[in-house]
Amino acid sequence: MEPTPTARELRQTSNLMYGCFAATEVLGLVAVVLVVYWGAKELGGFAWDGTGLQFNWHPVLMVIAFGFLMGNSIVIYRVLYFMDKLVVKVTHTILHVASLILIILALYAVINNHNESNIANMYSLHSWIGITTCALFFFQFSLGFAAYAFPQFPQSIKENLMPIHRFLGTTVFIMSIVSMISGITEKMLFKNSDADPYSDLPSWAYVGNFLGCAIVLYAIGIGLLVSNPAFKRDEHIAYMRQQNLNSD
Ligand code: HEM
Ligand code: HEM
Repeated sequence: MEPTPTARELRQTSNLMYGCFAATEVLGLVAVVLVVYWGAKELGGFAWDGTGLQFNWHPVLMVIAFGFLMGNSIVIYRVLYFMDKLVVKVTHTILHVASLILIILALYAVINNHNESNIANMYSLHSWIGITTCALFFFQFSLGFAAYAFPQFPQSIKENLMPIHRFLGTTVFIMSIVSMISGITEKMLFKNSDADPYSDLPSWAYVGNFLGCAIVLYAIGIGLLVSNPAFKRDEHIAYMRQQNLNSD
């Protein structure tokens, strides 16, 4: 059996976890600000009228849904370990429901824009990876909801399903980062022209490149938080229980 961590070790682990979480949140917020700025100032602004301005909602909604909301949702079991598990579970679900709504809007924004402008659907590598990511998200959401939102679901199945839920959830998050990076690159290649070449690094290219960097760094932070066994909720809870027993 693993030895239980001492109070000092637990404090150090907690400080490390919250330091990593704070840096990750800053990067996530930077990504959200950059994608909004990119759409508003560099790509012409926003509208909901089937034009290219409607398309500009697509990256904004996707970065918020798959990046900011989903990333936070998958680390809250760890960073909110001191809270009641049911409260954390409800928050985990609410964040995913919010993501689900934004993803549907983001898909509508681009598909409707393509249809209105007579542009083919699902022809690019980005669209293939993107639609697979969305399909996996919907599957994971439905399975997660069916298995964990209802107490009647058999406990043994819940337990056996959890490693799959963890693996699939992390996979969807990684795939969404691949989708975002390929989407940003594709948009900049569309914007490239002889009059305004990408290779000259105009301001829209700087913002797009910085956006991609912020997303990748944010994803590394989420990856660190969700993969470090020392940050697991159970580790902290077991220790807190032991402390309480010792002080009785
Ligand atoms: C997880 C995030 C993302 C997902 C799941 C995703 C998914 C998709 C899908 C399924 C399409 C195809 C729509 C159609 O064929 O009508 C598409 C199109 C597009 N997306 Fe994304 N997207 C994501 C993020 C982004 C980002 C951040 C950008 C940056 C600008 C972007 C740029 C584009 C572009 C330019 C198109 C139109 C061309 C094409 O169909 O490939 N996407 N996206
Ligand atoms: C697409 C949607 C979802 C994704 C991407 C996702 C992802 C994840 C991930 C990555 C974890 C592991 C967290 C960790 O190791 O600390 C997790 C845990 C969990 N999720 Fe989800 N999840 C989703 C939807 C749901 C839904 C709808 C429920 C239903 C209530 C749910 C219930 C749970 C529970 C109970 C845990 C266990 C946490 C623990 O015991 O440590 N998930 N989820």
